[in-house]
Amino acid sequence: MAEHIEIFEMGPRDGLQNEKRLIPAAEKIALVDLLSTAGFRRIEVTSFVSPKWVPQMADAAEVMAGITRAPGVRYAVLTPNMKGYDAARAAAADEVAIFASASEGFSRANLNASIAESLERFAPVAQAAARDAVPVRGYVSVVTDCPFDGPTPPENVARVAAALRDMGCYEISLGDTIGQGTPETVDAMLSAVLDEVPATRLAGHFHDTAGRALMNIDASIARGVRVFDAAVGGLGGCPYAPGAKGNVATERVAEYLAGQGFDTGLDMGIVARAADMARGMRNV
Ligand code: HMG
Ligand code: MG
Repeated sequence: MAEHIEIFEMGPRDGLQNEKRLIPAAEKIALVDLLSTAGFRRIEVTSFVSPKWVPQMADAAEVMAGITRAPGVRYAVLTPNMKGYDAARAAAADEVAIFASASEGFSRANLNASIAESLERFAPVAQAAARDAVPVRGYVSVVTDCPFDGPTPPENVARVAAALRDMGCYEISLGDTIGQGTPETVDAMLSAVLDEVPATRLAGHFHDTAGRALMNIDASIARGVRVFDAAVGGLGGCPYAPGAKGNVATERVAEYLAGQGFDTGLDMGIVARAADMARGMRNV
């Protein structure tokens, strides 16, 4: 039997958060509902962040209330602080994610906090989630390159990943936020992170700005990583990372992995329809 690699679908959150047009909640709900039939086990639906910072995600509660939940699918949301966590709980999110940066420049731009301050804010979220038996995922952004601070030293990524591990994150997703990583820099970064966190608890999160995401996925597979984040239609980008383009497209990753002999468990016909739907949301 082919070895399984999981794609964690990011389209409704990372894919849409940077779109200029304020997309109606009904369109987001339709996208999540279609994705729910494609075979994903985890879908990141939205973010409970400040609407002043990310207006596109201001309808998080409405979207969560409107989706039709499929059995066996976990619906995840971003929660930067306790305000976000309480709202995520009220919306019955199946899992939450806290998101840190490996560089001070990006931490300040994305969270208005130093790395240390952001970790202090995440600690009560992780504690509350443990109390409520809600799984917490951790992100580390700018794992190879930062738009403000330049190349990211691998040991800085390892340090933040270890802090998230210590808070109880069940998995840590390593984000090439601006898509400037190369197989060499990704490999060096993973080599450092693997001293702290085993590959079974890591995920790769590649933006495809420079067209190297698939090569970087390959480099991660070679290091044992078996979960990759991707967004249907290749939409996305972080509003606080100048130059950040789309997430690597789910349909490209799934096709590529199938060609490499891996099984993703996805229905490619539905993934293609969802990719069309997502691209259509951008082009209205
Ligand atoms: P701040 O301005 O320092 O926070 O922002 P504050 O505590 O001073 O609050 C400011 C206002 O926001 C207040 O409202 C709060 O109530 C409100 P006011 O009193 O002025 O009316 N507020 C909230 N509202 C709703 N939900 C909340 C919340 N928190 C505060 N949770 C803060 C600090 C962290 C809130 C802000 O910087 C923020 O929301 N940042 C999130 C930015 C973001 O979502 N970025 C994109 C996601 S990360 C990403 O894309 C990278 C990733 O894909 C991986 C990768 O690619 O590398 C994950
Ligand atoms: Mg991202």
